[in-house]
Parts: sequence; structure tokens; C-alpha cells
Amino acid sequence: MTDHYAVIGNPVEHSKSPRIHALFAQQTAQDLDYTKLWAPREHFDAVAGAFFTGGGKGMNVTVPFKEDAHRFADRLTDRADRASAVNTLRAEPDGTLLGDNTDGAGLVRDLRDNLEVKLAGTRILILGAGGAVHGILPALLDEKPVHIVVANRTAEKAYRLAEPLPDVDGAGLDAIPSGPFDVIINGTSSSLSDASLALPEGLVAATTACYDLVYADHPTPFMEWAAAQSAETVRDGLGMLVEQAAESFFLWRGVHPETAPVIRALRPE
Ligand code: ATR
Repeated sequence: MTDHYAVIGNPVEHSKSPRIHALFAQQTAQDLDYTKLWAPREHFDAVAGAFFTGGGKGMNVTVPFKEDAHRFADRLTDRADRASAVNTLRAEPDGTLLGDNTDGAGLVRDLRDNLEVKLAGTRILILGAGGAVHGILPALLDEKPVHIVVANRTAEKAYRLAEPLPDVDGAGLDAIPSGPFDVIINGTSSSLSDASLALPEGLVAATTACYDLVYADHPTPFMEWAAAQSAETVRDGLGMLVEQAAESFFLWRGVHPETAPVIRALRPE
């Protein structure tokens, strides 16, 4: 019998998740389908609830519903609890819903394993202090960097995010402690509006890796900035997208798909 999965979001029409999961299912011979589910902003519970009542087995959750899904889940994995957000829901045999967050693991897998960027013992700069950054911080901290700076346009939000976390400092974008950093991650939504960030000189060294959490068919302004600073590695978030999907697929199906062929299939030539 075919099992049903979906990604819920608003907007959701441009999501690559159905294609990714279709490729995973084909590769691992799993009998499932995966659709897009649009929900009005105020009606996450009704739309997600109807999907699971109708027999849905699992769901990915994207903007702006990750906090709703965190509240909606009956039980949370430890990493979803620490991220205060859920991007994966799984229907359990007893009818309850498990909430997980695979975003941070997806980012770490892409950086550390695919791109061979060292995270342990490094200095990491994260731009932004919204939901996306909150979601990836626990997984990055688990890699044991020596220091993380979270820098945000609204400095107060960065201070608040950093305050309870050891070895993490908050700052305004205009008051970033002096570089260079080993890894710089753009977790702001500025790339979505093609806006560039006004960043100080001296953040990038010849060995710095710069990573935009957003994926795009063309280099984002942050990636162009990083390339102009001669960063060693400059990447968008396509690999993270595929890796977080693979973690969700594993949670649902108990099988780890191979990600490299799927990343290659999705990367525009
Ligand atoms: P997400 O779920 O994508 O993280 P969010 O929680 O709304 O979305 O957070 C958006 C982040 O991008 C914030 O850190 C925001 O900065 P502010 O807190 O100052 O609003 C940041 N951001 C968005 N557009 C930006 C821009 N043009 N320049 C700098 N930061 C920007």
C-alpha cells in the first residue's frame, strides 16, 4: 500500500521537497507518494490535522509553520526541543505525532561531510537571529566549535539568542567582533529578497568557508560578497536541503538514501 507524505508551507509551490523525496523513494524502492500542501497562515492545525486524520504518515514543515508544528506535536525529539522548531512530523502507530528537527543535522552533514569543512575547534560567524538560526544552532554547537558569534541587524535578538548558550556571543551586524572567521553562515532571509548585507572588512581569510542557508539558481548577494573576499568555499543551501530531507526520510522509512546523486540531479548546470 502506498504511504502518503507531504510538505506543508505558505508559500509552498516552489518547494523542491517532492522531487527530492520522489528520487529517494525510487532509489530505495519505497512505496510512497509526497505532495505539496498549502495552508492559510492561521490554519496550520486544521490542514495538518486533516492530513493525518486522512491517513498521512509524515510531513515536512516549512516557513512559516515550524513553531506551529513544534506546538502541534505530541512528543518531541531532543533536537526539536532544543531548536524550538519542528520541520518533520511522523504519525506514530498509536495515533500521536512525533516532532523532529532535521535542519541542523542537514547543515552539518553538508558542511562537514560533503564539503569537508572543519567545524570542531573553529570560530563560526552566523548572520541572522531568526527561526532558521535558532534551528541550526544546537547541531553546530554539538560539533564543538571554540566560539560562535551570532550577528543580527536587530542586535537585541542576537543577544537574546546567545545569552543562554555557552561559547556563543550576540552582536549587531555593525559591531561584529574582528575576524577572520573559519566559517560564515548566512541565516538571514536577506537572500530571498536579493538584498545585500553591509558587512565589515576582515571577516574572511583565504581558508574561510561561506555558506548561505538559502538555495538559489544564481549566486545570492552573500555568495557574491564571499567570492569577492576570496573565500575558499562558497556554497548555497541546496546540499543542506537534500541532507535534511534524507534525515526526515530515515525517520519515516528507516532507510538512509544516498544524497550525492540527488544533489547532483537538482543542481542547475
Ligand atoms: P527565518 O525563519 O527565515 O529565520 P525570521 O525568523 O523572520 O525568518 O528571521 C529573519 C532574519 O533575517 C532575521 O535575523 C532578520 O533580521 P532582523 O531580526 O533584524 O529583522 C534577518 N534579515 C531579513 N532581511 C534582512 C536584511 N535585508 N538585512 C539584514 N538582515 C535581514
